[in-house]
Amino acid sequence: MKVTVVGAGAVGASCAEYIAIKDFASEVVLIDIKEGFAEGKAMDLMQTASLNGFDTKITGTTNDYSKTADSDIAVITSGIPRKPGMTREELISTNAGIVKSVAENLIKHSPNVIIIVVSNPMDTMTYLAHKATGLPKNRIIGMGGALDSARFKYRLAEALDCPASDVDGMVIGGHSDTGMIPLTRLATRNSVPVSKFLSDDKLNYVLEETKVGGATLTKLLGTSAWYAPGAAVSAMVQAIACDTKKMFPSSCMLDGEYGLSDICIGVPAIIGRNGIEKIVEIELDDAEKAKLAESADAVKKTNGLL
Ligand code: NAI
Repeated sequence: MKVTVVGAGAVGASCAEYIAIKDFASEVVLIDIKEGFAEGKAMDLMQTASLNGFDTKITGTTNDYSKTADSDIAVITSGIPRKPGMTREELISTNAGIVKSVAENLIKHSPNVIIIVVSNPMDTMTYLAHKATGLPKNRIIGMGGALDSARFKYRLAEALDCPASDVDGMVIGGHSDTGMIPLTRLATRNSVPVSKFLSDDKLNYVLEETKVGGATLTKLLGTSAWYAPGAAVSAMVQAIACDTKKMFPSSCMLDGEYGLSDICIGVPAIIGRNGIEKIVEIELDDAEKAKLAESADAVKKTNGLL
């Protein structure tokens, strides 16, 4: 199993590290435009192999796509991250050109590749990758909901004072501060609805903190986060590589599901060897439906800037 990670920056390198530590891929290729950067990150990571006990071979290249040939999976993290006070949407003018050319280069050398898009504004970049490559809709997946759901579970566990592994919860909708929809109605602690334990005020706090989860970290770090994003991407890569058919809210090209078409937005999806194996349509209540429609309008507006 060969995985290419485009962009050897904070998220790309973190993703490569988690993939290597989990030891399910034979090869990870890091590729970056910054001269020597991917080679350096790859060498640094390879020097952890004997310490961390993995056999995955990690190599790096400066923009030589022939080294990515015949990748099974490619992750696109290339582009600029946001700075404190910026929205993800403000990155579009720089990142659109990068994501388009990267996606085109990837499929030239790996015609059967499954692509996971991470670069922001992620839903629009996923849509762009679809339009630029014309790949079947199961083979391009946007990563946002997996991360937002992990952040939701972190906030729920904090409010419940319990381990995050006891909590289940999902965030759908656009990957933006205003577009994401944490589904508090469906969140549970060991199968018991969280509303049994938390007041409306507490639940509202969890909801609001989840929505600004990325912005909170950007303010603290001076740039956007990388550990949880890298872990979220690597979990999706593992689901494809090992055909686990695990469900992640993912940005999928919709064709009538949830009443939406010609848009990539976060919905629950089963991820396996074919990429998106199935989009799962869950029953939303009227308020959730209205929020999803509003979120979709915002994503379409950003798509209009392409
Ligand atoms: P970073 O600046 O640390 O790394 C980006 C890397 O991309 C740099 O090393 C840069 O040289 C490289 N790059 C730029 N143009 C390239 C090209 N044409 N080909 C190959 N490499 C190129 O940024 P970071 O923190 O890793 O973030 C990457 C992207 O991921 C940003 O757009 C950020 O907003 C996004 N992001 C998305 C998340 C999500 O949930 N979808 C979560 C976190 C970040």
